[in-house]
Amino acid sequence: MIDRLTITNFKAFANAQIPLSPYTLLSGLNSSGKSTVLQTLALLRQSHDALHEEDGGFLLNGDLVELGVGQDVLHEDYVASDGAEPRIQLALRCEGIDYSWSARYEREADLLRLDEPRDRPAPVLPPALSGAGFQYLRADRIAPAVSYPRSHEIAVRRGFLGSRGEHAVNFLRHFQDEPVLHERLHHPQGKSRRLLDQAEAWMQEICPGVNLQADAIEGTDSVRLSFRFGTAGLSASNRYRPTNVGFGLTYVLPVVVACLTAKPGGLLLIENPEAHLHPRGQTGMAMLTCAAAAAGAQVVVETHSDHVLNGVRLAIKERHFPAEHVLLHYFRRSTRGIEILNPTVGSDGMLSDWPEGFFDEWERSLDRLLD
Ligand SMILES: Nc1ncnc2c1ncn2[C@@H]1O[C@H](COP(=O)(O)OP(=O)(O)O)[C@@H](O)[C@H]1O
Ligand SMILES: [Mg+2]
Repeated sequence: MIDRLTITNFKAFANAQIPLSPYTLLSGLNSSGKSTVLQTLALLRQSHDALHEEDGGFLLNGDLVELGVGQDVLHEDYVASDGAEPRIQLALRCEGIDYSWSARYEREADLLRLDEPRDRPAPVLPPALSGAGFQYLRADRIAPAVSYPRSHEIAVRRGFLGSRGEHAVNFLRHFQDEPVLHERLHHPQGKSRRLLDQAEAWMQEICPGVNLQADAIEGTDSVRLSFRFGTAGLSASNRYRPTNVGFGLTYVLPVVVACLTAKPGGLLLIENPEAHLHPRGQTGMAMLTCAAAAAGAQVVVETHSDHVLNGVRLAIKERHFPAEHVLLHYFRRSTRGIEILNPTVGSDGMLSDWPEGFFDEWERSLDRLLD
C-alpha cells in the first residue's frame, strides 16, 4: 500500500504531503489540486511503463496523462533557492520504504530527466504502483459508442481498462465467465459469481432490470456493448446500443468492472465515479468502491458528490469496511496555497467536523429557502 505521497513544485502544489489509506476520498472546490494527486501517481506509472531505467525521467505525455511540457507542470510560484535550478520532486512511502524522484526542469521538454547519478539505476517503483492491479479512470471517460477497441495486449494481457475506460467492454467480453473472487464484491442479487452477472447486478443499482452483453464484431478489431431492459421473456426489451441508452450506464461500466476485479495489491484511482448517475446510483457506486477496498485493493477516489461521501459513510456504518481505513482529504485554497483538511468518519458513519465548504451546500441552500 502507498502510505504517503509527497509532491514538490509540481502543478498545483509547492509542497504537499498527502497521506493515503486503503480508501482515500479527495474532495474540494474545482482547481484545488485533487486530480493532481491522481495524475502524480499516474505519471510515475506511465514513466515506469514507457521508459528504460537508463533513460528514466518523468514522461509527461503518454497513455495515462497528457500534462504538456516542463513549463506546464513546474509549480508557478516556484522560488529558486540560491539561484539553484528548479527541480520537480515526487516521493512515495510504501510499506515503510521511501522512494523518491527528483527531475531537472526543462521549459520545453516533455521528458524531464532524473537527477540520478549515472552509476546508480533509477529507483524502481514500489509494487503497489507497478503491479498488475492498477487502474486509473479519468473524469473524461469514453462516451457511449457503437464499438470499442479490441486490444488483446492492453485488456487481456495487461488487464488494463484504459484511462478513459475504453478497454472495459473488451475486458468484460473476454473475462465475463471468470468468477468475482471476493465475497464483499458479490452483489446479493447477482445471478452467479460470474463477472458478467455481477456487473449486471451492480448496474441494476443504477438502472433496475438492465441486462448487459459484450460481443466481438466479426471481421473487425472492435467489440460492442448492448443493453436490454426488463426481465427475460416476453417483457424483455430489444437490445439497444449504448448510443441509444442514457449516458450514465456506459459511463459507469469501467468503474464497475474495475471494482469487481479489485484484488490485494491493486491500486484503483477513480475520478468522479458519480458522473452522469442519479443520486441513489452515486451512493451505490460509492459502496462498490468501498467493497473494492475491502477486497484488498487500495482505492483513491476524487468526487464532488455528497452521495458518494454518504455511500462511504454507510459502508462504514453497515460494517462493510472499517472506519480507520478511510481518509478524507478536503482541499481548499488559502492565501498560503492549498490546504488540506481531514474530517474523520467514526464507526457510526458520523463525521468529526464539517469544515466550511465541505459538502455544506445542501444546508446553505436550505437555510436560504427557509429564510
Ligand atoms: N504549473 C502550475 N503552477 C501552479 N498551479 C497550477 C499549475 N498547473 C495547474 N495548476 C493549478 O492546478 C489547478 C488544477 O488542479 P486539479 O488537480 O486539476 O484540480 P481539481 O481539484 O479540480 O481536480 C489549475 O486550475 C491551476 O490552478
Ligand atoms: Mg479534478
